Amino acid sequence: MFSSDSVKKFNNLPTPFYYYDIDIIKNNLKSLKYSLRSNNKVHFSVKSNTNKRILEIVKSYNLGIDAVSYNEIKHCLDQGFDSKDIVFAGVGKTDEEINKAIEKDIAYFNVESFQELDVINQLSKKQSKQTEVSIRVNPNIFSETNKKIQTGSKDDKFGVQLEDISKFSDYDKLSNINITGIHFHIGSQILNLSPFEKLCKITNETISYLEGNGVTIKNINVGGGLGIDYMDPENNLESNFKDFIHLFNSKIKLKNNQSIHFELGRSIVGQCGFLISKILYTKKSYNKNFIVLDSGMNNLIRPALYNSKHKISNISSRSNKIEAYDIVGPICESTDTFARDYEMVESKRGDLVVIYSCGAYAESMSSNYNLRDNIKSYYSDTI
Ligand code: LLP
Repeated sequence: MFSSDSVKKFNNLPTPFYYYDIDIIKNNLKSLKYSLRSNNKVHFSVKSNTNKRILEIVKSYNLGIDAVSYNEIKHCLDQGFDSKDIVFAGVGKTDEEINKAIEKDIAYFNVESFQELDVINQLSKKQSKQTEVSIRVNPNIFSETNKKIQTGSKDDKFGVQLEDISKFSDYDKLSNINITGIHFHIGSQILNLSPFEKLCKITNETISYLEGNGVTIKNINVGGGLGIDYMDPENNLESNFKDFIHLFNSKIKLKNNQSIHFELGRSIVGQCGFLISKILYTKKSYNKNFIVLDSGMNNLIRPALYNSKHKISNISSRSNKIEAYDIVGPICESTDTFARDYEMVESKRGDLVVIYSCGAYAESMSSNYNLRDNIKSYYSDTI
């Protein structure tokens, strides 16, 4: 995927840096748009990537935004998104954040508890506004993914329990909110579609219960969570939107006034980003062969935090010999390890190393830990 020309270009830039392939994100967005029906709306989960260039592209495909803090809302408004295309989720919104979002007339709030519903009602009253809300329901669906990014099981902190949907009709009577939707999000990096199929069933049951009890539901927000291929990214650059979107469109029974909303992050941007680093040092120690990169877990925390695997390759070595390496960063703790016993071509100081699938939750989760510098981002169409 990376030619000698790319190596030449990358060698002229100060490492480490994020590299975004603009064709990859555009092709992926095209295939997403192609899978959508007129009664579908996609809000890009901006927590996965807040990079302005990426947002400009997302906006050009008419996606809305799923934000989880007022700062994310503000950032997207500054990038030209319309407040009517922004939804505000999150289990711990502060009064200040709620007030500012009401002021901006966002599309709706995804509300995570009845207490939050009361707060939004009171704050809307003070501003003499009517606020649209969707209630997040925890459907208690197990999804096969890393435990740390599951969100729809019984003991997870998100949403209200299914048993409490009978309370919706009382809360719908509050003067300054309108309950117009339901919201689910069962987890992230889910590759097997069967938990989503279960979600469709629960969605249908929930809607028919609510409508039978006088609550009119307009927006059916099924969240995000579609996974990407971290093992073989080069052959799977585009996400399987077709099957994912079709599943919901075919299983959820919609009325004319209803639409299905998706909140996708990783599946939109995951494969377009790469972390490009140089090898600072190589060393042998006891049973290990170490490669020390100039990027660390402050640039990509997923392996350290979730034990996630990313494809890694040395794109400048001319060797054919394969060795097993522990590929680590410079941060002063052992969890700063990108991969253990990873087979890669024989590598030396100064070689260029690419870590794949860094478009989602890499740059947006970066930090200055160890007081390391922020790193730059470069784009395939400008270098
Ligand atoms: N909607 C809600 C309510 C969410 O909490 C999330 C992600 C999404 C949508 C988007 O999910 P996606 O389509 O990207 O799977 N930092 C972790 C992932 C955390 C996901 C948090 N919520 C990682 O690097 O794997």
